[in-house]
Amino acid sequence: MVTSDKQQFTIVIFGASGDLAKRKLAPALFHLHSIDALPERCRFIAFARSEFDDETYRRLLFNVASDSYSSDAESWLEFANQIRYIHGSSNDVDSLRRLDAMIKADTEGLIEDNRLYYLALSPTLYESTISSLNEAGMLDEKHGVRRLVVEKPFGTDLASARLLNTSIHSRAAEDQLFRIDHYLGKDTVQNLIVFRFGNTIFEPLWNRNYIDHVQISVLEDLDVGDRAAYYEHSGVLRDMFQSHLLQLLALVAMEPPATNHADSLRDEKAKVLNSIRKPNAQEAATNSIRGQYNGYRDLDGVSPASATATYAALRLYVDNWRWQGIPFYLRSGKALRTKSTEIAIQFRQPPHRIFDVEDESGLVPNMLRIVIQPDEAIHLIIDNKRPGPQLRPQAQELSYKFPVGMRDAYERLLLDAVAGDASLFTRADEIELSWAVIDPYVEAWESELASQLYPYARGTWGPISADQFIAPGRYWLNPVG
Ligand code: BG6
Repeated sequence: MVTSDKQQFTIVIFGASGDLAKRKLAPALFHLHSIDALPERCRFIAFARSEFDDETYRRLLFNVASDSYSSDAESWLEFANQIRYIHGSSNDVDSLRRLDAMIKADTEGLIEDNRLYYLALSPTLYESTISSLNEAGMLDEKHGVRRLVVEKPFGTDLASARLLNTSIHSRAAEDQLFRIDHYLGKDTVQNLIVFRFGNTIFEPLWNRNYIDHVQISVLEDLDVGDRAAYYEHSGVLRDMFQSHLLQLLALVAMEPPATNHADSLRDEKAKVLNSIRKPNAQEAATNSIRGQYNGYRDLDGVSPASATATYAALRLYVDNWRWQGIPFYLRSGKALRTKSTEIAIQFRQPPHRIFDVEDESGLVPNMLRIVIQPDEAIHLIIDNKRPGPQLRPQAQELSYKFPVGMRDAYERLLLDAVAGDASLFTRADEIELSWAVIDPYVEAWESELASQLYPYARGTWGPISADQFIAPGRYWLNPVG
């Protein structure tokens, strides 16, 4: 990305000694730098509380993700030499003024001093950091852009998300804000837009007349790991559903946007989120199931009587003309058999069957399976004649496998934030509408109507009751293998 030599782009990572910065952001920036994708005069500032000097921090980065850097020693040195480390508290105005003075000294004489502040911080620090940045005059766009990247979770429910939005909006404009949902940075998630709106053959079928139901599964083999203290208060609904699963649902269910620009896309997603039925407590309990993997309660930071769900399945309805009455089954869980994110669209059975009943066992409904990760592919399941003397159907797959080696989601998102393209970031209203969908389930689970918390063994597909939840006549599509 070329810019004039009269401009500088400074990327400041707050929380630079944390896992996200070391494992994801630094390797992503390094790769973007090594392929010349960033502005020509781009500087990196790592800001955190620990008292490192530049060299110690650079070494720390290298050691954490050496695989990402060691193949190109020259590029690494060039990149590393541009990283400055500053220690301080992100919500301390004096520390921020020091940072500001340093950037100003570095950009003296230039026409533009553009900045991206990446808040790779604990969510409890978002508000105070943005407020301190404002107080230090660092959000003012007189001499260049000032963009803020905010990680998830954004709030813990509708009320807190609203408060946070209001508070941030009193200091920064919405177009300065880039709220991350890293799923939107995945190529296969973006492909949903191309697949749906670049082809004409599926659109006439993409509605209640032809579709029986939709499944969205985000399954993880990893357990909670060392994030138990966070997870215990979050649980799977807040951690995964409010963000990733609802964003996938919105992309599958939205109307065609007028353009692919940020607000066009986000308007359509917001309309879908707004159309998702809000259940009362009884309905929320009936339309959900929750589970917890065995051993979760033994983790440090977890109560021995914890009722935190590490698995959930929801049945959601989108109340609009396109989707009325069609269930969207969403499920996600930790410590499951394998990692897999997949969207499955199951079409209706033919209205009249001409095959003998005994021959129909092979007749499966048409299905479109969109595998987001890890074996990125699209499979269309159709019925063909089984070879042989009889007229017997047999399910077969037409498949397209995405090429291997796709870019990490964070690379795409960092690049877009630098370029000021917010299409793949969630807008304030989307965040609030998503919490409005999730809150009734969280509340129902905390009430006396709470359905049972089913234990499940690690390495399985979750609680057995999840199969009854989707039945009769429907079953979860699990990845093969
Ligand atoms: C994060 C959640 O947002 O997404 C984690 O906080 C989860 O709990 C992760 O493990 C999953 O992301 P991915 O890209 O590995 O599917």
